[in-house]
Amino acid sequence: MKKEAVVARLLNSQLARPHRESGKAFAPTNIALCKYWGKRDQELNLPVTSSLSISLGHKGATCTLRRSHSKQDSFTLNGKQRLLSSPFGQRLSTYLNLFRTVENLYFQVDMQMNIPYAAGLASSACGFAALVLALNDFFAWNLGKRELSILARLGSGSACRSLTPGFVEWQAGILADGMDSFGEPLMISWPELCIGLLILNEDEKPLLSRRAMERTVATSLLYSAWPDKVKRDLDLLKQALLRKDFQLLGETTESNALTMHALMLSAWPPISYTLPQTIAAMQKIWQLRQEGIAVYFTQDAGPNLKLIFLASDQKIIHHYFDKLEVVQPQLS
Ligand code: PMV
Repeated sequence: MKKEAVVARLLNSQLARPHRESGKAFAPTNIALCKYWGKRDQELNLPVTSSLSISLGHKGATCTLRRSHSKQDSFTLNGKQRLLSSPFGQRLSTYLNLFRTVENLYFQVDMQMNIPYAAGLASSACGFAALVLALNDFFAWNLGKRELSILARLGSGSACRSLTPGFVEWQAGILADGMDSFGEPLMISWPELCIGLLILNEDEKPLLSRRAMERTVATSLLYSAWPDKVKRDLDLLKQALLRKDFQLLGETTESNALTMHALMLSAWPPISYTLPQTIAAMQKIWQLRQEGIAVYFTQDAGPNLKLIFLASDQKIIHHYFDKLEVVQPQLS
């Protein structure tokens, strides 16, 4: 099934609505505690497995959308013009093709992000989620979170988990059209939970996660073990969240990320997003744990780490990682 068919099904007659002057929205970025790695449908970004994330409060993207008066889309990222021919411009413009409801409808998209772009900090997740929310505002669709999550998934898989704050589970679903594959908030609050962003390198990543996923699924002999690992980890994470068992949460999250990176190493040609400074930071974290400090990490498609710890340990963690940017996602 093509993306256009999903959009037509969700928006129906609403696609013909006149648009407003502009649309604006914010979406938080999200960090997966149990990762999405591998698609069952490349076109619709339908995953092989479910996944679970936490949204990062005020860290994310704000998207402003206006009708462009030139004959093509134009883009800025953090105030700087990005060419239509750049990877950023191409990706957004292709996505916007799904929503050109009248002839010559082109967009001016201004994206502001308070996280580094394309460095494994889920910038595409919050970017596409903010864009979908801004489109919802621009066209006054009044869609529900479920529909918006499905639309965001068409842009980037993990974006479907960025429509709501807090913990979100993305159900893999089984339907070919993906109508059962969207992010759903889990009604669990854990205000003491802290995420520390450890930026070790801000360069844009050399290999897109989409390509890395494809290669892993196609060539890693270990990939067949991944769905069972995810099933087990999702179960453990939910238990940890319900019981507020921080050790179980940390161990499961870290082990899940390391397994995903092991799959990538076993792909051919091998894939590694890990840099020497990433390894050094991991070893420091393992050492701190040996000394009794409860800190864990997760790593996405980039060299940076996200540390996980409780607010009561924030001071000591800061002592060892002085450049850490700490977010307490559920602190009200
Ligand atoms: O949604 P994508 O294509 O950017 O893939 C995200 C993949 C990971 O960040 C590595 C894992 C995840 O679940 O967010």
